[in-house]
Amino acid sequence: MTDTLPPKSVASTTARDASRALPDNAIEISGLTKTYAAKGKGAAKQALRGVDLVVRRGSMFGLLGPNGAGKSTLINILAGVVNKTGGEVRIWGRDIDTHPRDARAALGVVPQEITADVFFTPIEALEVQAGFYGVPRDERRSQELLEALGLGDKANAYVRALSGGMKRRLMVAKALVHNPPILILDEPTAGVDVELRRQLWAYVRRINAEGVTILLTTHYLEEAQELCDTIAIVNHGEVVACEPTPTLLRRLDTRNVVVTPETPPERLPELAGFEVRPRGNGAFAVTYRTGHSSVEQVLGAVRACGITIRDIATEDPDLEDVFLAMTYGDASRRDPTRDR
Ligand SMILES: Nc1ncnc2c1ncn2[C@@H]1O[C@H](COP(=O)(O)OP(=O)(O)O)[C@@H](O)[C@H]1O
Ligand SMILES: [Mg+2]
Repeated sequence: MTDTLPPKSVASTTARDASRALPDNAIEISGLTKTYAAKGKGAAKQALRGVDLVVRRGSMFGLLGPNGAGKSTLINILAGVVNKTGGEVRIWGRDIDTHPRDARAALGVVPQEITADVFFTPIEALEVQAGFYGVPRDERRSQELLEALGLGDKANAYVRALSGGMKRRLMVAKALVHNPPILILDEPTAGVDVELRRQLWAYVRRINAEGVTILLTTHYLEEAQELCDTIAIVNHGEVVACEPTPTLLRRLDTRNVVVTPETPPERLPELAGFEVRPRGNGAFAVTYRTGHSSVEQVLGAVRACGITIRDIATEDPDLEDVFLAMTYGDASRRDPTRDR
């Protein structure tokens, strides 16, 4: 039913300046910095330290990073709810400093926090939003959007009766009422159950296939790798990697071997070429790169330290391991004075 929707969205957003070709890049960010001012006893916080990023038109782009990395700060600057400290941002070819309204009209943003207006039913909420954006009545498609997001039968429900996942999908519908060519989702799976998450992703994939550029943030590597064609990794306000997903995954070929020694060693063994971290009760995790070494080599290195192995287990890397692997050997990225 909404099959014609995203191409129309791209077209209608650009109708005003039809002479202009579609931009190659949906979003261009250069040298973006943000320092939150000191408040009370809280020190000033540098949340973005000079971010360069390009999101190509049509991409499903993942901004991946742990909590506190600066993802929401970046999204909120794009959305116009946080002021940047420095740097430049162009959205759909328009500079947010010189053409803020045009730039923002190209975006639909679903913020990290679930906000639901309890005074409106879902259908009313969409109509109000459409009015806010000046979408003419005959171009509105509120019911269609609700159906597409699996909320068709909730059109006239009390919003407070909706589950967290439904509220989030209602937020997605609201973000799309003005047919923006770019949809931004900040941690969209927080508080969403598995089934609803699956539906949400199916819908996001569909509109992406139909031409809408998607930028999403997540702190789950798995989620980013399943959905995104390109992934940027952000840590401590910096982009530490930005690559097509398959390229990145090849670089992130790390695994852990968790070793439980017969008797706990007095101190953590140092194994050349491997990251070693304690796991409690004398056990420790050794991170190795599958392309470079093998479990056999890890175990050999452990035994060479005089440790008798009682048990081993292998694990896939979590995000922390990924960052270690990404920044391995790059001392400049390991500033111990940084808070985590
Ligand atoms: N309004 C704010 N005032 C002060 N510091 C903030 C504010 N918002 C975020 N921060 C800080 O900026 C850093 C980045 O936060 P955020 O952008 O929310 O990261 P993420 O979304 O990746 O978890 C964190 O250290 C956070 O505490
Ligand atoms: Mg966030």
